Amino acid sequence: MKSFCFCIQKGGVGKTSLSVTLAVELAKTGATVIVDADSQSNASAWIGPESITRELADVLLKQCSVKEAIVKTAIPNLYLLPSAGIGGGLSDYENGKGINQPNSIKHLLRDIEALGYRYTVIDTNPGWNCLSKAAVHAADEVITPILGDSFASDGLRIFASKLKELREDLDAAAAYRRVIVNAIDRRIPQHAQTLQQVQEGAGRLRVYSVPVEPAFRLAQRRHLAVQDLSGIKAETREVIGRLTADLLTA
Ligand SMILES: Nc1ncnc2c1ncn2[C@@H]1O[C@H](COP(=O)(O)OP(=O)(O)O)[C@@H](O)[C@H]1O
Ligand SMILES: [Mg+2]
Repeated sequence: MKSFCFCIQKGGVGKTSLSVTLAVELAKTGATVIVDADSQSNASAWIGPESITRELADVLLKQCSVKEAIVKTAIPNLYLLPSAGIGGGLSDYENGKGINQPNSIKHLLRDIEALGYRYTVIDTNPGWNCLSKAAVHAADEVITPILGDSFASDGLRIFASKLKELREDLDAAAAYRRVIVNAIDRRIPQHAQTLQQVQEGAGRLRVYSVPVEPAFRLAQRRHLAVQDLSGIKAETREVIGRLTADLLTA
């Protein structure tokens, strides 16, 4: 099984939009699970069922098995390990037991793999807490989305230093090879400038740019995959396809 994680210590940059979209794409190749590791549960609200009886926190607290908590989505071959959002157990877990369980996601991925799934994508919270660290520790590859604003490069620098610390503390962490500059409008000088700056400073990181894409909001409102909307831009489709192909050949 291959596992990918979208992570950066910032909110509103496209972690959920891109996690779900990548998972939909991977599901075309093999059975895929998206793990909603954000207590705000946006991924679950987007593609999950109206109500759930088990959530990620229950699995992490060993109150049920992974198999019992995973649900099928309406998208072929795509499964969800949901979080419950308001009233759910994930934030208690993050502030309690999870602090002393740096291997929580590693064990979770092992259990998902044992069920025969081919890919797992983890959507993390905006922050750098025990759960996002456990995800970055355990996944094969971590991808950082950023926006085209003037703080993008700072955000990447901070992430790189946190990743280095994690790797030193735990002796292992996800490979870090890709940055996505998201919601880019090339007509906005700041966006074009940021994209250029990130590309110049990327070193060995590969940089992808996703255009401003109104179809994301629409897809989320309608509980659909963005790929299934006819209004999606050709550029969005192209970059999603290229990112997926690159991840699968890495
Ligand atoms: N490329 C894009 N173009 C336009 N809007 C986007 C794009 N990517 C994400 N969004 C919107 O931005 C908001 C934040 O995205 P989200 O994926 O929830 O970020 P995060 O998970 O990092 O907090 C959402 O309303 C989403 O629909
Ligand atoms: Mg999110």
